Amino acid sequence: MVLRSLSCGAQPAPAWLAPEARPGETGAAAEGQTMARITFIQPDGSRQVLESGEDETVMLVGVRHNVAKLPADCGGQLACASCMVEVAEPWRAAVGGPGLDEGDMIEDALGMRPPGRRLSCQVRITEALDGLEVRLPETQG
Ligand code: FES
Repeated sequence: MVLRSLSCGAQPAPAWLAPEARPGETGAAAEGQTMARITFIQPDGSRQVLESGEDETVMLVGVRHNVAKLPADCGGQLACASCMVEVAEPWRAAVGGPGLDEGDMIEDALGMRPPGRRLSCQVRITEALDGLEVRLPETQG
């Protein structure tokens, strides 16, 4: 199932992310409800600093803001490996490593398990991750 193209340009948010598909959400972190600021770094070095709401994953924040190179084709169901990020080294301990199934998917996609690689749909944001930096790969698995 492809919900979003792999191009770098801004794309409309996929249907599964529409506010009506997520009861109680407005589609953007409302003023005063910011949980953390997440920086997405593209392969060319460009950066987007985005605010998360409560109960979100890194993938949801990125897709909601149309971050390039983050197709997240399965919508966070741990079934596509197209939401891969590299967690910046200073944040790896706080974020933690991948779970068993997630690690297997990373290895299937890359043929190895590079340090800091995570599927962003599996990284739940907490206040402790305020300031987190993640890098997007040139291509997704
Ligand atoms: S969005 Fe498909 S595995 Fe993360």
